[in-house]
Amino acid sequence: MLVLGIETSCDETAAAVVRDDRTILSNVVLSQLDEHRPYGGVVPEIAARSHLDHIGGLVAKALEEAGIGYEDLDGVAATAGPGLIGGVMVGLMTGKAIALVRDLPFVAVNHMEAHALTPRLTGGIDFPYLALLVSGGHCLLLGVSGPGDYRRYGSTVDDAVGEAFDKTAKMLGLGYPGGPALEAAALAGDPARFALPRPMLGRPGCDFSFSGLKTAVRQTVARLGGGTPDAATAADIAAAFQQAVADVLADRTTHAIARFRKDFPKGDTLVVAGGVAANKVLRATLEKTADKNGMTFTAPPLGLCTDNAAMVAWAGVERLQRGLTDTLDAPARPRWPLDEAPVKSQV
Ligand code: KG4
Ligand code: ZN
Repeated sequence: MLVLGIETSCDETAAAVVRDDRTILSNVVLSQLDEHRPYGGVVPEIAARSHLDHIGGLVAKALEEAGIGYEDLDGVAATAGPGLIGGVMVGLMTGKAIALVRDLPFVAVNHMEAHALTPRLTGGIDFPYLALLVSGGHCLLLGVSGPGDYRRYGSTVDDAVGEAFDKTAKMLGLGYPGGPALEAAALAGDPARFALPRPMLGRPGCDFSFSGLKTAVRQTVARLGGGTPDAATAADIAAAFQQAVADVLADRTTHAIARFRKDFPKGDTLVVAGGVAANKVLRATLEKTADKNGMTFTAPPLGLCTDNAAMVAWAGVERLQRGLTDTLDAPARPRWPLDEAPVKSQV
């Protein structure tokens, strides 16, 4: 089975072809970083227009690199949310148009489900598993039993963890995008020079909170005299911030492992996915957490942690294998909680 995947929910335009035997035949990603950099964040209108300019060419390139034509496809999968609505519409309409013209089954993919299922594409792991999804818009701990079958253990009560990385990096003058810049700066930093809080640490449950940590960084910068701190100070704050996030993720994940174990005695894998899972310090911390609790750790390779279309195509494969398809009136959804049934179409 060959599935074309399309991803346009944020600032990456992407198309990929994946086969049901877990082969990625092509995976093209066009980042819009340079277009958004002058604004220090993603501008939704610029993103939507750029997706529109590039998606056609990228789909053609994905097919060409895979060495196939439209006639070889068995299905089309496109991200239908959650994300920036203009961009989601561009990818969704492109996918629907291809499915309609070529008379192919169509899958409207939840972007977070695509992240959550990626370890099955890259590692072939079995259900059920515990997933920590950490991205620019989300921070979630889920028991994953199958496509559309999730048990939520915890989520953030305020900011997403990637958002906290991005905002902290901005306060430290580390540039855009914030996550990778902060990780790089932290390499030279001393995490012990500044004391930052660990919100939620030690509390019952598995929820997260990051806004207090962000505020503490702002206050630390202000106490130093305001403005952008010098490079050495920024590195120390970055290291302290990253360590605080690592401690919180480890604590919350330990709680979730206990609950997951009770619900799924046979499950023994911790999966970390989403853009923030590209962070090597966080990966190492969570690997230790898994180890301590007798769980096997897995995380997709870095390039498949951040947004891409191979994960969307794979979510399509998983759904098509189970006969789960969507009609061509599937809506674009700016918000789409993973543990809620997808909206049923009217016809
Ligand atoms: O999954 P993703 O590519 O897009 C969303 O669905 O949000 O995640 C993007 C987020 C951004 O907040 C980015 O700063 C963060 O992932 N990120 C990182 C790293 N690489 C990307 N955060 C920390 N360390 C990194 N190395
Ligand atoms: Zn994402």
